[in-house]
Amino acid sequence: MPVPLLDLRAQHAAIRDEIVPELMRVVDSQFFILGSAVERLEQQVAELSQTKYAIGCASGTDALLLALRALDIGRGDEVITAPFTFFATAGTIHNVGATPVFVDIDPASFNISPGAIAGAITPRTKAVIPVDLFGQMAAIEEVAAAAPGIPIIEDAAQSIGARRKIGGKWRMAGEAATMGTLSFFPSKNLGGYGDGGMILTQDQALATRLRRLRVHGGAKQYFHDEVGYNSRLDTLQAAVLGAKLPHLAGWSARRRENACYYSDALAGIDGVQTPWIDPHNESIFNQYTIRAERRDELQAYLKTKEIGTAIYYPLPLHLQPCFAYLGYREGSCPESERAAKEVLSLPIYPELTRDQLAEVVDAVREFYKR
Ligand SMILES: Cc1ncc(COP(=O)(O)O)c(C=O)c1O
Repeated sequence: MPVPLLDLRAQHAAIRDEIVPELMRVVDSQFFILGSAVERLEQQVAELSQTKYAIGCASGTDALLLALRALDIGRGDEVITAPFTFFATAGTIHNVGATPVFVDIDPASFNISPGAIAGAITPRTKAVIPVDLFGQMAAIEEVAAAAPGIPIIEDAAQSIGARRKIGGKWRMAGEAATMGTLSFFPSKNLGGYGDGGMILTQDQALATRLRRLRVHGGAKQYFHDEVGYNSRLDTLQAAVLGAKLPHLAGWSARRRENACYYSDALAGIDGVQTPWIDPHNESIFNQYTIRAERRDELQAYLKTKEIGTAIYYPLPLHLQPCFAYLGYREGSCPESERAAKEVLSLPIYPELTRDQLAEVVDAVREFYKR
């Protein structure tokens, strides 16, 4: 039986009757730019994330770009982040004219190593961007302690609804940072039917600035205090996301159940290291990512069994050709480089059946027996 990496059609089939009327409501209103569907979603996501403000925008990439701009980060500034992430995390730093400064990851969590941050801080450091990779929050409180007084933009593109116990209290993804950025790319736990993003913050002044930056930098139409962008969350996307939001907690719980199943079943297999599961750091498992010996061979073998997998990410950002000008070399971030060679993400989406999960586990076991 084929097991795709992700099956968005299965999810859509289950909720089609809830989505279509919401889409038609927008279509019939012929009101496609911002408006009540966007405002409602912003309120609901702010509530879920325990933040005072949420500002919808065109993508997770734009959420990062707007957050950097809201902190006046530009030419001559440095922003610290980890290289084991999706390209947008560092691409946006470059695109505002600033310099990405890469520090290595913690091998257990795949997230930025707080211990590596202090050594990278200079008088030009204007922000740190920890990434909540694969759906598990970075050690935000340790990042803050390592970079006192420096704003934190939490790249929560993969982690909406994840939570981490900080000082004995559960804090949501995006809640404890200066700003948190979300992506509604279709493959995310809360995915739109196209691109979308959002910025979370507790800071009123930043929220006001972000709302202005997303509409060409003008608080009043045709009057521009600064040069901004056209980066609004599409109203049709907000309608889809609003209809999907009540399902998010259940979907993420199913992903966690699937992750527990895999971790139990794969535990005894030599050659596989299952992801770190921390009861005080609840992942939403946007990805379930193992480390695997002979990773490329395993991936090819699973493909022959029609089991979809992916390598997130095969080349860390400090070694990307476009960042050669920064002067990093192989060996600059050894844990990121090792992760890029070892990781393999397995199907984890909520609609997977037990039979499908078992099929994946059996195929991995067979591979290492050969
Ligand atoms: C960690 C991370 N940052 C940023 C982004 C960018 O989001 P988007 O694709 O919505 O622009 C993504 C999306 O894949 C991501 O995974």
